[in-house]
Amino acid sequence: MKHTLRFPEKFLWGAASASFQVEGGIENCDWAEAARQGKVPACGAACDQYNRYEEDFNTAQKLGHNSHRISVEWARIEPEEGKFDLKEAQHYRNVINALRVRGLEPFITLWHFTLPLWFSNDGGFENRRSIERFKNYAEFVTREILGDVSFVVLINEPSGYAHNGYIRKYWPPFKKNVFTYISVCNNLIKAHNAASVAIKKIRPDIKVGVAKDNVLFESVGPNPINFFAAKFLYHWINHRFLNKTREHLDFIGLNYYFYMLLGRTLDLPKTDMGWSIYPEGIYHVLRELIGYGKPVYIMENGLADATDTQRGKFIVDHLAQIHRAIQEGVDVRGYLHWSIMDNYEWTFGFEKRFGLIEVNFVTQQRKIRHSAYVYKNICETNTLEIES
Ligand code: BGC
Repeated sequence: MKHTLRFPEKFLWGAASASFQVEGGIENCDWAEAARQGKVPACGAACDQYNRYEEDFNTAQKLGHNSHRISVEWARIEPEEGKFDLKEAQHYRNVINALRVRGLEPFITLWHFTLPLWFSNDGGFENRRSIERFKNYAEFVTREILGDVSFVVLINEPSGYAHNGYIRKYWPPFKKNVFTYISVCNNLIKAHNAASVAIKKIRPDIKVGVAKDNVLFESVGPNPINFFAAKFLYHWINHRFLNKTREHLDFIGLNYYFYMLLGRTLDLPKTDMGWSIYPEGIYHVLRELIGYGKPVYIMENGLADATDTQRGKFIVDHLAQIHRAIQEGVDVRGYLHWSIMDNYEWTFGFEKRFGLIEVNFVTQQRKIRHSAYVYKNICETNTLEIES
């Protein structure tokens, strides 16, 4: 039987991206430097969105979206410490205005993984001065770029950033040191709080959030090691940052991609990244957020699927679970799919395809995928049809 699930009024629907992954032409950040050293794939022109944002936002509008998440690139805005580039500030004001005139509510991320070289060369977030530096940058962006933007996301995925850069040696600065990792985690918390206070002094009405990368950690079965490991990870990865920033958060942005069931393996379909698809996970991770008493926006959820055979169902199944969480009291107010278009997928370069829109990286031609129309229908009707 078919059922229609209705989402709350004024629900925000859209998609997300990040500056380095789509803009192209960013050479003065740590990822560009890592590419020059052959440690990660080169990003080059990416989707050339720096020049094509109007065309891309036209498509988002045509696809029924009413919101959109981008990030501003710190290295463009502050290429040297304390020297802010007013031309780049104007560029981002134009980008934000282009969203506004198309009826796309902007979510602006201040920092999405890539760091200006001057900052990373001086220890990045290992350095205690990072707190003041991030705060200064946030102040400039608030004064000169954000205008009347309502939603600002200060940090994207603090847990994943610290883990990949300081434990796994997988992302810049390619380190493996638990003590440095812990001090980076702590500085990210302090940087968030300092920036949030500074932003609120300038714009008391703005809504400050984080894009928090939470994972479903659960132990199944009697093994006490699994039980304690799941509890530890739950607190350390999912809730430590949120607990220590909760006074300085107006909303929680959730990025959901992963689950970890300790003691049990599920045989599930996989994305092109080899990640298992487990829509129920988003329901559980959302339920964990009830205690914060804050509005929640899904800031990212998506999959690599070059043939677009799984994406439509993925969206429907995840939204059904989000709806279930809303019914049970989680105040979810928006869903931004990752990503609006294929882009630079970090260490995988351009090989993995996360887009509602397919990009030909040679010609820069865009092609709307079928799943984007499945999603369009949901966005436009604010409802989801499911079989049950
Ligand atoms: C990040 C994105 C990334 C996506 C897919 C998230 O961790 O915020 O930048 O492309 O996941 O891996």
